[in-house]
Amino acid sequence: MKKILNLILKIVGGLIVVITLVVAVLYFNGKARANKQYTSIEARPLAIAGTPEDLVTGEKWAETLCTNCHAPDLSGQILIQDESLGMINSPNLTGGEGGIGASYTNQDWVRALRHGLGTDSKPLIGMPSDAFYYMNDKDLAALIAYLQSVPAVDNAIPPTDLKPLAYILVSLGMLGDVFPTEHIPHKEIPLSPAPGLSVEFGQYLVRIGDCDNCHGPNLSGGESPVPGSPPGPNITPGGTLAFWSAEDFIATIRTGQTPYGRVLNPEYMPWDEYSNLSDEELSAILLYLQSLPALDYGQ
Ligand code: HEC
Ligand code: HEC
Repeated sequence: MKKILNLILKIVGGLIVVITLVVAVLYFNGKARANKQYTSIEARPLAIAGTPEDLVTGEKWAETLCTNCHAPDLSGQILIQDESLGMINSPNLTGGEGGIGASYTNQDWVRALRHGLGTDSKPLIGMPSDAFYYMNDKDLAALIAYLQSVPAVDNAIPPTDLKPLAYILVSLGMLGDVFPTEHIPHKEIPLSPAPGLSVEFGQYLVRIGDCDNCHGPNLSGGESPVPGSPPGPNITPGGTLAFWSAEDFIATIRTGQTPYGRVLNPEYMPWDEYSNLSDEELSAILLYLQSLPALDYGQ
């Protein structure tokens, strides 16, 4: 009897040691990815002229791509707060107190937006730079000029702070795309198609619009990173989009109601932001989506 008890104790003890080790390895791996310094990644210099025309274009991009997370006045907000996982916060981008705007150089802006890196060269957590990486020089320069011109708002946001459990889940691949910088093709220079009603320009807008973050890597549907959100539907011709006209798509993005009567919650599908795009830009997006292979959901 004693022998059996001893054996059981040894097995349980051994298991506890193994589990502790595995958890520790997962934790340190996640933490190491967060603390990795990408010092060798240099951003291509970008000339920022800030003409009146640039400021108009830049404002449009900020309202289409940034205000959803960084708040309408760009002063930042708490995005995700969870007792066991910690919090992910979008910083104040203005020059006000608690904001980064006053100290950011042109290069800092480019490095954050195109490469997902903070001024400490560590990866920005949950900031979709893998989408903004595709912005061409003209659009990015206009966006940065506008961001440098916005009114200063005082708003001290606590920094993003993940708890140990979050790092463990990150290592297990269970928290989604936490470090976009890891899969940005940093050295390539993306194509810059001319604006107009073309598949290529539609693809450009879909890339910088970050549609794949919620609609899956192939746009055939997938889980959304927004807490409480339904999954992102299939927006290849494998879903209902095959039958939409340009008017249907434009009306959906302007009103949040699909031709099939679905009412889209702007908290989950940011159509109110995308409605800053022109009719021609939205038509180009549909043209691109309809040019994709008809995939099944999640394929
Ligand atoms: C899906 C949400 C989301 C969107 C959309 C988004 N951001 Fe962010 N952004 C974040 C989060 C979260 C952080 C903080 C990351 C961290 O602390 O590691 C961040 C960080 C940043 C930083 C780095 C600030 C610093 O502390 O050094 C800049 C600059 C920035 N964002 C600019 C933008 C701009 C410009 C846009 C639009 C083109 C944008 N972001 C769109 C979530 C977002
Ligand atoms: C933050 C996540 C998120 C992003 C980014 C996003 N979507 Fe969505 N989208 C959703 C969700 C979630 C739904 C379903 C919403 C619902 O049912 O309330 C949806 C619904 C849709 C629908 C309706 C589909 C149908 O079959 O009814 C279309 C079309 C659509 N999105 C297109 C796009 C395009 C194009 C982009 C990029 C320009 C985009 N979305 C970016 C989350 C997102």
